[in-house]
Amino acid sequence: MAIEIIGTGKAVPPRRVTNDDLARTLDTGDEWIRSHTGIGARHIADERTACSDLALEAAKEALTGGDGREEAALEAAKTLDIIVLATATADYYGCPSTACVVQEKLGARQAAAMDVTAGCTGFIYALETAAGLLAISKTRKRALVIGSELLSRVANWEDRSTCVLFGDGAGAVVIEKTEAPQEGPGRRGLLRTILGADGSGAEHLIIRRGGTRNPFKAGETLELPVHLEMNGQAVYNFAVKAFTDTCTRLMEEDGLGIDDISLIIPHQANARIVQAAGKRLGIPEEKFFLNIEEYANTSSASIPIALDELNRGGRLKRGDLILTIAFGGGLTYGGNLILW
Ligand code: UT7
Repeated sequence: MAIEIIGTGKAVPPRRVTNDDLARTLDTGDEWIRSHTGIGARHIADERTACSDLALEAAKEALTGGDGREEAALEAAKTLDIIVLATATADYYGCPSTACVVQEKLGARQAAAMDVTAGCTGFIYALETAAGLLAISKTRKRALVIGSELLSRVANWEDRSTCVLFGDGAGAVVIEKTEAPQEGPGRRGLLRTILGADGSGAEHLIIRRGGTRNPFKAGETLELPVHLEMNGQAVYNFAVKAFTDTCTRLMEEDGLGIDDISLIIPHQANARIVQAAGKRLGIPEEKFFLNIEEYANTSSASIPIALDELNRGGRLKRGDLILTIAFGGGLTYGGNLILW
């Protein structure tokens, strides 16, 4: 039995905001943002759009190969057994899950649906959760895995050290349990996954207000909207270590060297994190796929967006070994070894 990715999709809002656009209202500039992060622009959703709207668009593409036919997507959705959606910016606080909103909009009536929260590592966690739920069941065959984020809603637009980093977007994959082997000759699909967490770093990336720790009180007015706070340096250090460790383990546990890997798809948080990890590992820059210049950090959506761009651009060939590596709020980290 193998778990294979059979479809990919993505959705980003049409409104593109460049570094120069931000510099009109914020004490920042294109030179600083590019040189410190590699970011050139981000896409920002309009006020009517919620997490599930982007998720739904990406899901429809993943279900149909992007042919845009609504009926084909809804027909394919009937074959889904599970929907797992990773997000830190859900439609609703706690209940219902955004996955349930998507399930309803897709008409995927036989699918179970749940959200996963693991910061920017959310997609890796969601993929492993869905793969595990397929693997342990005799009847489940197909799952939809989505990473969808509206980080513009929780960015502090008065804090230049964080708001310039984030963008909105969603990516999705459809995975299927197939007869191909997972080990040995002819193996395919999701070969290996690493998941990890270090809750001692919880404060380094945090949305303090709105939860049961700091609930809103009746009549209370907030100085700022609910927003994400980040200790950039602490997260940076964690990220470089998590990246190098996860990359090394994924290859070593499978007896692989860097020459066996076609491409590494990192979470797109900061191009400098990828460069620092690459230098430590002695991996040439061209092994890493980066699209952060266009989308900035879309948290749990960044890896499935990248997967879709590569897949649709014909850059993933059957037999390619790829690594995905992510790190983020929690703090969390993880990665996959996938044979395309
Ligand atoms: O998705 C996972 C979560 N996030 C991450 O992985 C992010 C991890 N951290 C980082 O990527 C980096 O720490 C940042 C990009 C957030 C910050 O880069 P840095 O090189 O560590 O900058 P810094 O925070 O040390 O700030 C350096 C200077 C400061 O000025 P002074 O005090 O040296 O005069 C900041 O005030 O840069 C200033 N600065 C800015 N200047 C212009 C900070 N943000 C900006 C800005 N524009 N947007």
